[in-house]
Amino acid sequence: MRKLIAGNWKMNGTKADLPQLHALAESHKDATVDVVISGPATLLSRMAETGLAIGGQDCHPSTSGAHTGDISADMIKDTGADYVIVGHSERRTDHTEDDALISSKTVAGWNADLHVILCIGETEAQYRDGETLNVLLAQMDHSIPNAATAANTTIAYEPIWAIGTGLTPTPQEIADVHAALRAYLVDRFGGEGAAMRLLYGGSVKASNAADIFALDNVNGALVGGASLKAADFSPIVTALEQSA
Ligand code: PGA
Repeated sequence: MRKLIAGNWKMNGTKADLPQLHALAESHKDATVDVVISGPATLLSRMAETGLAIGGQDCHPSTSGAHTGDISADMIKDTGADYVIVGHSERRTDHTEDDALISSKTVAGWNADLHVILCIGETEAQYRDGETLNVLLAQMDHSIPNAATAANTTIAYEPIWAIGTGLTPTPQEIADVHAALRAYLVDRFGGEGAAMRLLYGGSVKASNAADIFALDNVNGALVGGASLKAADFSPIVTALEQSA
């Protein structure tokens, strides 16, 4: 299994930030892991020129049509991108996206030949109530389409309370959750589920990356804030390359 490190720029970045990507592409042109940056739609074409793998952050379930302000998976592919994130908690919360919609967006991504990074995660209240696994398993049941394979899908576990907060679960908690997610994927998808990459996301930074990447069933990370500057992201890429 080739590991994956994905940066998520969210609603950040203008063309003034492209030098960050050129620097990253230069430092990691021989990377032994997949390195992806999911940028704002406005920059994807220019980001793709850096030679890095590029992704969108969301797509519409339809290929085209009267959907003002939306972007289709085909449009993302047309920029030169190869990935798309779907189901990020900020989409689920800010745009009330549910699992059924996320499932249809996943299929749209596949149909455009994009690799889908599908996000799941529990709220702080659900975490405190001991509901984490129930929430995650239900999200996977309803948002991962049956045709998922290791080649077309990566699952990202992102506890909502860890996103942008500087908080992370303990290594044991991450390992326990990822073991349960792996068991689910193997049970449902067999060998494909065993080979599907599982990312951890939520306040990953250079100082905690090595400890997180050492955990079983953590096959990479989805990184927000620390992906915006090459100087912050590059050591995380290196930590993943150096993990066993
Ligand atoms: P963060 O964001 O690394 O800034 O916590 C992660 C994400 O939302 O993907």
